[in-house]
Amino acid sequence: MPTPFTDSYDTDFLMETLMGPNAMRIAEELAGFLPLSPGQRVLDLGCGKGISSILLAKKYGVTVFAADLWISPTENAERFARLGLDSAIIPLSVDVTKDIPFAHHYFDLIVSVDAYHYFGANEAMLPLLLPFLKPGGTMAVAVPGFNRDFPEGELPEELRSYWTPEWNFYSYNWWRRLWEKEPGISMIQCREMDCCEKAWDEWLKAPNPYAKADIAMMEAGCGKYFNLVQLTGVKKIQDPSCEKNLPAPDKAIPQRSLDQVVTKTPDEIMAIRANLKAQDRPPNHE
Ligand SMILES: C[S@@+](CC[C@H](N)C(=O)[O-])C[C@H]1O[C@@H](n2cnc3c(N)ncnc32)[C@H](O)[C@@H]1O
Repeated sequence: MPTPFTDSYDTDFLMETLMGPNAMRIAEELAGFLPLSPGQRVLDLGCGKGISSILLAKKYGVTVFAADLWISPTENAERFARLGLDSAIIPLSVDVTKDIPFAHHYFDLIVSVDAYHYFGANEAMLPLLLPFLKPGGTMAVAVPGFNRDFPEGELPEELRSYWTPEWNFYSYNWWRRLWEKEPGISMIQCREMDCCEKAWDEWLKAPNPYAKADIAMMEAGCGKYFNLVQLTGVKKIQDPSCEKNLPAPDKAIPQRSLDQVVTKTPDEIMAIRANLKAQDRPPNHE
């Protein structure tokens, strides 16, 4: 899948702004499968520094609500304003596991690039998000994952010292099965993305210290197990399960599921990794 917008985008800007595998390239490939048209409202969930939001606003003329937990909306607002996108992209601070501060039936699309695995690798998140989509609206996610399922406790040797529970890397079959359980959505697509290797290579060239740390992981051979999983689905127009049966707003996030959704900062993740390495503790995958 060609990604010409990203190919010709300002490389210096991208290198300074990446937070993982090139989110603009991933968003461009993902967007190629989406029914985007000017004027639509799109929620970019876990937008980080907003690279995917920039792609969506500039290439497709949509209005983007750029929601993130770790990156301040003030920082993002300044970035969007410098690019002349301050009226096209609205930056917001959101912890989607605590509060989803939008109107129901508001968005034409919800898009999430390299973020959904932090909060959405569970059965609770998809039904929580669906009310905010218009009926017939599209949910589109791209997450880093593994290109195969590993039986519990049987991660390959190369991965063991780098893996932490926060990775939430799964195969595309794992994600497909998770989404197929949700009656409020019709699954349209679950595929491995073409841009995986290129997006990772670009990240490894970034000056970000987390990218520098990931170089060792890739040199150890972990990259051969990685992929990017693309999931797209359409909210069913009339499905009682995704609207009427939702719990009352104050109980919207079932406590037991929320306990499993632990969002860590990058520093906390690095500390966990370092700790695991020090203890040389074999990971217990899933
Ligand atoms: C690896 S970064 C990727 C950022 C951006 N999408 C990109 O690819 O450059 C993961 C993002 O997920 C966001 N995130 C994690 N947990 C979240 C939550 N509970 N609510 C909203 N965003 C969350 C973080 O704030 C972070 O910016």
